[in-house]
Amino acid sequence: MTARERTLRSKAQAAGQGHLFESYADLDPVARERFLDEVESVDFELVAHFARLLAAKEPSSGGEIRPPDVFALRRDDRAEERARRARGAGEELLRQGRVGYVLVAGGQASRLGYDGPKGAYRIGPVTDRSLFEWHARRLLAARNRYGRAMPWYVMTSAANDAPTRAFFAENDWFGLDRGDVFFFSQEMVPALDFEGRILLSGPGRLFLAPNGHGGTLLALARSGALADARRRGVEQLSYFQVDNPLAPPADELFLGLHVLAGAGMSSKVVAKRNAAEKVGVIGLVDGKPTCIEYSDLPAELRDAKDPSGELLYGAGNIAMHVLDLGFVESLTTGGLKLPWHVARKAMSVWERGATTQKQGAKFETFVFDALPLARSSVTLEVAREQEFSPVKNASGEDSPATCRADLCRLHAEWVRARGLALPPPTPEGYHPVEIDPAFADHREAFLRAREPRPKIAPQGHVYH
Ligand code: UD1
Repeated sequence: MTARERTLRSKAQAAGQGHLFESYADLDPVARERFLDEVESVDFELVAHFARLLAAKEPSSGGEIRPPDVFALRRDDRAEERARRARGAGEELLRQGRVGYVLVAGGQASRLGYDGPKGAYRIGPVTDRSLFEWHARRLLAARNRYGRAMPWYVMTSAANDAPTRAFFAENDWFGLDRGDVFFFSQEMVPALDFEGRILLSGPGRLFLAPNGHGGTLLALARSGALADARRRGVEQLSYFQVDNPLAPPADELFLGLHVLAGAGMSSKVVAKRNAAEKVGVIGLVDGKPTCIEYSDLPAELRDAKDPSGELLYGAGNIAMHVLDLGFVESLTTGGLKLPWHVARKAMSVWERGATTQKQGAKFETFVFDALPLARSSVTLEVAREQEFSPVKNASGEDSPATCRADLCRLHAEWVRARGLALPPPTPEGYHPVEIDPAFADHREAFLRAREPRPKIAPQGHVYH
């Protein structure tokens, strides 16, 4: 027995995880080394915490819930004036290069049924451009507008890190400077059975799963990305998800409202389609802004309306945030200060020499759990059709089909507003038109831009 094996065996045993070594003797030397690497990566104190969470009763969300303060789309003169000042502050921040972009792309695209990094999925209705390219070309638009490049921190996971880097390289970093694109991987944590024992996924393989998008913050710290951001003079991080090609990462209004309020973390929301829509909502819990999961919102609050008939809890979280760099540092120094959530589900595990289906528990952190910890926070309402159409499922709601239609409808409206011609509608009823996000990343930019050049292809028009 090597010294390393002895150390790790006794560490596992002391943590009540001695079963991990039961079929160690059957592994070949290469598999043994890999297995020991995996065991070495386990934080057994954290696993003990997971086991206690499993044994504890589900915590009740508790706390008094009240509607949030939202900077709404409908604005009176005073709010308009505040928006004007905020846009100025946001522009200044971008002009000075004080913004870093954080793209969360660690998910597995399993609901989409796509075998590859989700960002490589081709979503352009006319051009076929990938999700990564949509985001990259928006960043190019911001770079051109402000005459300076800002760093882009792209979070991957163990499963998609290498293919993500390769995809960027094949596409020549989409025209960005490769020195401005920083890849970092989120950490994996073990899944447990209901007795708190670490599960295996195959012979000599621990069942490891990504630690949730809250893990972005820890991985930013541990990868050196936060230090890189500090070095570059970045003060605010603009956070967005890979699945939404409409997300505008360099939003002057959002950045400006956030800095003028001295906020630690801010959020964008859209009005829920109806009370039943399954999205988390922003509300105040014991006076603090919090994202309340759909399942945690009591039915009478979910359905409650204000005198004008609007939902009281209608501020749907669309997972776009601005985070103050110092706030992220404080949340990650000495470990991640976010709560863990338990997801109990059926999993394919390796037991007694075979793969079997079994109920187990995965553990995740959510980035929005940082909201109540922030010293203050802005909640900005935006128009769904302009900023939010995620690709989550293979068909039906939030699918490639709905996203492509939404992109075309939005861009057709801009084209119409400039008095330009549209191609005939598709059988699905939208005009197949796409505007290169590097040419114009939002409506006003398109209306202000030089005369756009149309590229007419059989499948539709592209303006660039
Ligand atoms: C999430 C939010 C929901 C919000 C919606 C907006 C949660 C629990 N809910 O829902 O409130 O309305 O987005 O689109 O998050 N990811 C990682 N690593 C992980 C887990 C996720 O990088 O470990 C990334 C995925 O790549 C994806 C994003 O996080 O880009 C969202 O994950 P997903 O599981 O799709 O969240 P939803 O349940 O759809």
